[in-house]
Amino acid sequence: MNMKLDGKTALVTGGAGGIGRAVTLTLAAAGARVIVVCRDVEKAEETLTLAEKLDGQVEYTLMDLADEQNREEVMNGILAGAGTIDILVNNAGISGYMGPVSETPLDEVKSVLEVNLNAPFHLAQKVIPSMTKKGFGRIINISSVAPRVNPAFTVSYNMSKAGLNSFTTSLSREVGAKGITVNALAPGLVMTERIRTKRIPGLAAERGLTEDEILNGMKSKSDTKELTTEKELAETVLFLCSSSAKNISGEIIELSGGYQG
Ligand SMILES: NC(=O)c1ccc[n+]([C@@H]2O[C@H](COP(=O)([O-])OP(=O)(O)OC[C@H]3O[C@@H](n4cnc5c(N)ncnc54)[C@H](OP(=O)(O)O)[C@@H]3O)[C@@H](O)[C@H]2O)c1
Repeated sequence: MNMKLDGKTALVTGGAGGIGRAVTLTLAAAGARVIVVCRDVEKAEETLTLAEKLDGQVEYTLMDLADEQNREEVMNGILAGAGTIDILVNNAGISGYMGPVSETPLDEVKSVLEVNLNAPFHLAQKVIPSMTKKGFGRIINISSVAPRVNPAFTVSYNMSKAGLNSFTTSLSREVGAKGITVNALAPGLVMTERIRTKRIPGLAAERGLTEDEILNGMKSKSDTKELTTEKELAETVLFLCSSSAKNISGEIIELSGGYQG
């Protein structure tokens, strides 16, 4: 199985933190030139330092995915410089307001849909023409189990990821015959730094439980009694970029250990 990506250029949104950073470093270690799109310069610089240790070729460009005009201008600049983006990983995402629908500010709903759904659509729109010309492309959207489980109080997030799944399958129908595959990865809970340092301690304080009890509660919801790791997700992205995965398209691939909700 050939997992080398020499000569390929990848763009990873939110590629300087959490799952996105693992994807960036994994693709760079496989030989791809990776363009990270993000807002946080400090995290981006840290990612570049980590990439240097792997001899990886990583650069970053600031972009606010919530701002359509900014996306358009920055993407035009990236494409003018890179020529073709061979691999697009729409990873960046936000949770938005967590609470009852009746109390959710509509601006919050719009922001979640803008970052989690409209931005992936827009970026795909920008990269498809040159992928088509080249007869090669990989578009990988980082979704979630949320549209299957539909937990209460995260409705805008669930809606945004349901839309992303539909976009994934619909776009695959359109571009599959052009050598472009389109897939989504749908993780359950992933043990990122944010989950480790904020979500677990936050829930422990809120519920008067230990962090271990919260963690075990999270794990107990999957058949495997394990959480997915960033590394597992990043390696699945790498596999989808390889020639072995050239006939996998239009799929929503869960990495949740059989999460039951
Ligand atoms: N962690 C989980 O348990 C889990 C589970 C299921 C699905 N997911 C999905 O996996 C993806 C990555 O999640 P994560 O846990 O790694 O999240 P994270 O650590 O919060 O990272 C999200 C990234 O998105 C970027 N981002 C957010 N808003 C942006 C904007 N307006 N413009 C540009 N970049 C923006 C951030 O970049 P900056 O910091 O530079 O702003 C950040 O690096 C998301 O789509 C999420 O929905 C995560």
